Amino acid sequence: MCGIVGYVGPKSAVDVVVAGLKRLEYRGYDSAGVAVVTADGLSTRKKAGKLVNLQEMIAADPLADTGIGIGHTRWATHGGPTDTNAHPHVSSDGSVAVIHNGIIENFAEIRAELTALGIELRSETDTEVVAHLLQIVLPTVDGDLMEAMRRVCRRLSGAFTLVAIVADQPDVVVAARRNSPLVVGRGVGENFLASDVSAFIEHTRHAIELGQDQVVRITRDGVTVTDFDGATADVTEFEVTWDAAAAERGGYDLFMLKEIAEQPKAVADTLLGRMSSGALTLDEIRIPEEQFRDVAKVVIVACGTAYHAGMIAKYAIEHWTRIPCEVELASEFRYRDPIVNSKSLVIAISQSGETMDTIMALRHAKEQGAKVLAICNTRGATIPRESDGVLYTNAGPEIAVASTKAFLTQVVAAYLVGLYLAQIHKTKFADEINAVLTQLDDMPRRIDLVLDTTEHVRQVARDLSNATSVLFLGRHVGYPVALEGALKLKELAYMHAEGFAAGELKHGPIALIEEGMPVVVVVPPKTGRDVLHEKIVSNIQEVRARGAKTIVIAEEGDEAVSAYADVLIRIPEAPTLLQPLLATVPLQILACEMATAKGHDVDMPRNLAKSVTVE
Ligand code: AGP
Repeated sequence: MCGIVGYVGPKSAVDVVVAGLKRLEYRGYDSAGVAVVTADGLSTRKKAGKLVNLQEMIAADPLADTGIGIGHTRWATHGGPTDTNAHPHVSSDGSVAVIHNGIIENFAEIRAELTALGIELRSETDTEVVAHLLQIVLPTVDGDLMEAMRRVCRRLSGAFTLVAIVADQPDVVVAARRNSPLVVGRGVGENFLASDVSAFIEHTRHAIELGQDQVVRITRDGVTVTDFDGATADVTEFEVTWDAAAAERGGYDLFMLKEIAEQPKAVADTLLGRMSSGALTLDEIRIPEEQFRDVAKVVIVACGTAYHAGMIAKYAIEHWTRIPCEVELASEFRYRDPIVNSKSLVIAISQSGETMDTIMALRHAKEQGAKVLAICNTRGATIPRESDGVLYTNAGPEIAVASTKAFLTQVVAAYLVGLYLAQIHKTKFADEINAVLTQLDDMPRRIDLVLDTTEHVRQVARDLSNATSVLFLGRHVGYPVALEGALKLKELAYMHAEGFAAGELKHGPIALIEEGMPVVVVVPPKTGRDVLHEKIVSNIQEVRARGAKTIVIAEEGDEAVSAYADVLIRIPEAPTLLQPLLATVPLQILACEMATAKGHDVDMPRNLAKSVTVE
């Protein structure tokens, strides 16, 4: 996710744009940049790192005061967080400046075309190709920037919000969007473009939500919107009722709620560009295929929620590849003299990429000769930098301390690695891999369906707010889901919660059951491994017979559990291995709501940090 701002009006474009970027910095902070149209043409300042670095640069080397400009704060997808890769990107003749949020899937072929035309591309980004394409097209449309944008957008595939300005047009900003947000702020004698309303809410509350495949042209006094073919488009005008702080949360009361709601898109973005015509394309991992072919053991190292993602991945990786997969708490790994060597693939899973326990574990693995692959949500962080390869989860910044969308995308990314290993080791046929990829591709839609049950789950949580202890049970991949549900409740509601493998209950923990004790049970699909389903239904009966209040998460149509569920939370059907992407969501909402009911600071729980950078 990146932050985007465009402005045209009587105010100082630099001031308006930079202030807007400040409001959007939560969307990404790898680099920032601004471009304005001056009497002498385009003028640009851009800098790696947080926005403050750009502000210092501009203070030392001011931009001319003009009434038209664009700005960008970056969450890197293609190319590391460097000055060169920072947006805006400028065409080779310096006439066009472009900023972008999203992923242009076919940028590689366009880069090749431009190179063949003798155009030198300066950055590693996908975005830069748009600046050069606009430069090429503009003369063919008599300099009509809106028509040029339409023609360029028709060439692009993927997800993008693009905003462009041109040196000899000091009163026009043009933007386009596909699968990526863009709103217009309508002022008096001025107009704004942004990723979300928080960027311009202090100037105007009149906004226009742009639709799919639309292009918008703003001047001081006008807003024109068409589709990619030039036909006038219907748009939705609305009044912004949020205050600026709430707007940064997209209107949600909590970043955690916003990030729970972003999970369908986070999963879709993690899949985007990694599957084509049924095959996996993970060459971004940068570890040569032959080294993957030599892998005889996989070891996953991670902490907390990331560790639970690793536990889930183990089931899939072993099932698809028949390669042994161990999952280790990173903080334990290097102290137990682990058996890893040059035939080991160590996967370090980390949202922040700065967790010291995981860093130390990957360093130990490398000392033992293992290949290390990072699964990380933060470009340029220490863990991907020190790993041999990286597969990024494109979840966008996760601000709430309690990890939600990062968790789902860690599972998805680990599954992609597992399928990639199966593809290379030929333990799965192409059609079998394609079948899983097709199922994965449909998971954002099913996660959306789970989100429709949010109010029901919030009511269940409110009914549990006086509980002092909650148990979570699961089998197979439902067991790590149970552990994750318990962790969420611990870290948010500050209460005792414990996850168990359901089969383990009778070996001691069942003694914990008291009258009315809430027990959350994650029920595997009926159609998957029937024996698993039968066993967990027995487990529900066992705890209920001893007084437990059973809160059962089960798929639509599974009536075998109804008689034993005091509370039933339904999720869509899904294959066993993909069910964690659905069953986890109600547990996130449950913990969030119980913490809210207790008046806790959900986004910043006590004693915790978003990234634990000490051992
Ligand atoms: C999960 O909600 C916690 N924030 C915590 O367990 C976290 O998952 C763990 O500290 C690992 O962080 P990382 O993914 O940034 O390495």
